[in-house]
Amino acid sequence: MSIANVKRRQFIVGAISTALAALGGSRLLPRIDAAPPRQSPNGHGDSHSGGVFGAMGEVDHERNGFHPSELLVDFNYGDQVYQEDGRTVREYNLIAVDKEVEIAPGLFFPAWTYNGRIPGPTIRCTEGDLLRIHFVNAGSHPHTIHFHGIHAAVMDGIPAMPGMPFDMVGPGMIQPGDSFTYEFVAEPFGCHLYHCHAIPLKRHIHKGLYGAFIVDPPEGRPEATELVMVMNGFDTNFDDENEVYAVNTVAFAYNNDVIPLKVGERVRLYLINLTEFDLINSFHLHAEFFDYYDHGTTLTPTQRRVDTIMQCQGQRGILEFNYQKPGMYMFHAHQSEFAELGWMGMFHVTEEEHHGDA
Ligand code: CU
Ligand code: CU
Repeated sequence: MSIANVKRRQFIVGAISTALAALGGSRLLPRIDAAPPRQSPNGHGDSHSGGVFGAMGEVDHERNGFHPSELLVDFNYGDQVYQEDGRTVREYNLIAVDKEVEIAPGLFFPAWTYNGRIPGPTIRCTEGDLLRIHFVNAGSHPHTIHFHGIHAAVMDGIPAMPGMPFDMVGPGMIQPGDSFTYEFVAEPFGCHLYHCHAIPLKRHIHKGLYGAFIVDPPEGRPEATELVMVMNGFDTNFDDENEVYAVNTVAFAYNNDVIPLKVGERVRLYLINLTEFDLINSFHLHAEFFDYYDHGTTLTPTQRRVDTIMQCQGQRGILEFNYQKPGMYMFHAHQSEFAELGWMGMFHVTEEEHHGDA
């Protein structure tokens, strides 16, 4: 399937209408299988034919080199961790590489990535830790890493400005083959992000150069099952419009591999919006309500008992909830178009202990 030929909605089959009824069937547990293709001649799914949301076929996660189920829970606390002058130091290695990523079955996106994955590694630490992030640009274009957080200008990862000294703007764009170490003390605690800040900015971000940056408060947060979801979109035909939407890159990934949860367990979801071209994205939870911590920079919720939250580009926050009843529960963008184009998934809530994969 050539990327240029892929139009919005073309890979979508089926509709939500009968999905919820179908989910009661045990044949769908623990894994929801996508319905067989039901494409109508105009390329639109037959919305009344009893399919579920989903894409035809399966993404080859092994070829991609990452699995969306792993991205959810893959926290990187440092490739090297040690003490220095009474402070914890965490070192990370980020390498920009060009890579073709399968974002929906048979649909390949010519991405730029940190460490071969989108989103890049989830960098995690505690407020006050000293971070050293060794960046190597092994890609074909100049890149940077811009961290959200408090730090010196020289570590801000922006393009150089003519006539400005190094200590005002830092090294500027890191050329292919070059490297730079970004170093700063992690603050404030919260749910943050990092991304390339080379120009043209929207292209560099949209190509896949971004990731989650979680700074824990020194006193920690209460015990919970923690998940990371980065909302993203892909403009597959370069018309400045996204044709595919997802959390953690692969359309409908958590339809195919539902996320196992237990009744009553506290869930903490780090949610980050890195969708380009659309001003706003959103998260809607079915059949439960959550507390929300905007930017994650407070220990008490900034909103209580909501079931939908919206985020502008670069915005993020923490959701906390627990399901009271077992069942299969949807979560998705409340922009219906985004949901139909890949940004939706399922929590599979059970009474029993779960062991790794559902
Ligand atoms: Cu870049
Ligand atoms: Cu930013």
